[in-house]
Amino acid sequence: MTPTAPPVLDFSPFYGSDSEAKAHLVDQIRQCCLYNGFFQVTGHRVSRDLQLRVMNCAKRFFDLPLEEKKRIDKDRTSFHRGYELLESQILEPGTRPDKKEGLYIGEEIPEDHPYFVHKKLNSGPNQWPEAVPDPEEFRRTSMEYYHAVFDLAKDILATLALTLNVEPTFFDPMTNGAVATMRYLHYPAQPKDDDDKLTRGIGAHTDFGTVTLLLQDEVDGLQVLDVPTGQWLDVKPVPGAYVVNLGDLFMRMANDKYKSNIHRVINKSGRERYSIPWFFSGNPDYVCQCLPNIREDGEAPKYPPITVEEMVTASYNESYGRADRYKEDLKMKASHTEVEMMSTAAVGA
Ligand code: OGA
Ligand code: NI
Repeated sequence: MTPTAPPVLDFSPFYGSDSEAKAHLVDQIRQCCLYNGFFQVTGHRVSRDLQLRVMNCAKRFFDLPLEEKKRIDKDRTSFHRGYELLESQILEPGTRPDKKEGLYIGEEIPEDHPYFVHKKLNSGPNQWPEAVPDPEEFRRTSMEYYHAVFDLAKDILATLALTLNVEPTFFDPMTNGAVATMRYLHYPAQPKDDDDKLTRGIGAHTDFGTVTLLLQDEVDGLQVLDVPTGQWLDVKPVPGAYVVNLGDLFMRMANDKYKSNIHRVINKSGRERYSIPWFFSGNPDYVCQCLPNIREDGEAPKYPPITVEEMVTASYNESYGRADRYKEDLKMKASHTEVEMMSTAAVGA
């Protein structure tokens, strides 16, 4: 089979009354899930106007001086909300830290909410920038967008349930009280002669959670690995479309039949790139078990049950730990060199 980039599917039959068209959509999505877990959707209900307003928010934020962005550093929270500096994460072992900066936003969880009190996965109040033009509109648009994509994520999960021949409400216990995070991302233009082996906007990785819905601007750079051939396929920006991909948690529930595929960003366009991935984790206490109708006869579930919270926390710690260790190593090397230089100097003296 020749490698093909993720197809662009019209999602509108999901909302219509044509049952044949809907069954066809479900079939196409099932094929994508089995192949590499990636597809794009148009014909959804998130308005283009809202998408453009939210992209504008992202740009307004990243245009702020670094000092302003650092005022809401995500390291001031223990629940991953706020600004993430360039080069904070290494998603691909052996490469340099990712050349992207981000702003993490999620459901507004006040400090008396049980999720905050019990330190549930990524739950707490957002940190909002005060220096962006029209900060009030910034918050309002960000949350309006967050909720609009939440609705779409529920519809995507209902469709995934249909691909398994179960009721569209199958994932309701996972979506009720679900935790999700969106990230405004900015990838500065990389020099054209950057070392392809080492420099990444975002290193090759799979997403941790259940499903991701990504809005891209018009600048390309996102690529999906075609596993059988080792070829990298461009996921072309399509105005208004969402790139949908399954994460590791879904693959695990699907006994590895549905895929969570490797992807990366290298921004060699010569332009700034902005994107907004929206990661659906799920209700932190939801126990993920092997899904129905996914195994062959006699095939055993490969994995024991795990909660959403356990699974996602472990993956976060791994990728951020890697960047922290990389920086520690650099510091160690730098201080060794200093000591060596000093001792050589001492001998010479
Ligand atoms: C991610 C990701 C792709 C992009 O944040 O996990 O794969 O285009 N982003 O920003
Ligand atoms: Ni990703």
